[in-house]
Amino acid sequence: MITREWPMYRVVLENHQLLPLLPRFNLKLGFGEKSVDEVCRTHGVNTDFFLEIANAYLDELYVPEEGLALFSLSTMVDYITSTHSYFTDIALPVVEEKIFRLMAHSALSEREVNLVTDFFNDYKEDFMAHLSQEEEHILPYVVELERQSTQKEPDPDFIQKLQTYSIREFEKEHDRLETSLRHLSELIIKYLPPFDDLQLCHQVLNDLVALMKDLVDHADVEDKVLIPRVAELERKLLNRETTA
Ligand SMILES: [Fe+2]
Ligand SMILES: [Fe+2]
Repeated sequence: MITREWPMYRVVLENHQLLPLLPRFNLKLGFGEKSVDEVCRTHGVNTDFFLEIANAYLDELYVPEEGLALFSLSTMVDYITSTHSYFTDIALPVVEEKIFRLMAHSALSEREVNLVTDFFNDYKEDFMAHLSQEEEHILPYVVELERQSTQKEPDPDFIQKLQTYSIREFEKEHDRLETSLRHLSELIIKYLPPFDDLQLCHQVLNDLVALMKDLVDHADVEDKVLIPRVAELERKLLNRETTA
């Protein structure tokens, strides 16, 4: 388990999987001998929050609930938003460019190329819709809920809304974005004829695996940490107001 005293360079050197996490915290390479805590503090990052996210990322069995409960919901919302930006600005365009390059230099029939292209484009559309729904509706709601719960007299309209809406509704329809990527990998490994550019083909498959892992981790933060904490805050605020 990583701790605050470790030199940051060693954390990253020994755990390459953490590389995509760095831009989400606005941390840049060139750490020198600085410890995790020093690097985080220099960049205005909450060290405990960084450690919780990094340790949960490295160990699938790590239970983040307790540690993450120490942070404000808006810290979590900021992290979720910057993870979304990483997906839309870096991870997805990179794998997309490679997939299309792989198709362009392959011996695939037009029908096969269209199959992959259509599949990827449909996926991208669903992906963007998923993220927009969270950014336009869910995350602003979470920030507002946290703000209202700090008010002595919360907005009556907000309390009224709480009586008919709960984050649990979002939970029911919160779908998993990694499943379709698995199907895409299956398509390449199982059904399509082999590609001549092996190196690029393997890069695509590796990128898909990395993105799937990242998406699982992201959904876990939303499902196992954010939603239960929001539900708890909803309950507390509602109880406080109805018994007041
Ligand atoms: Fe998300
Ligand atoms: Fe999500």
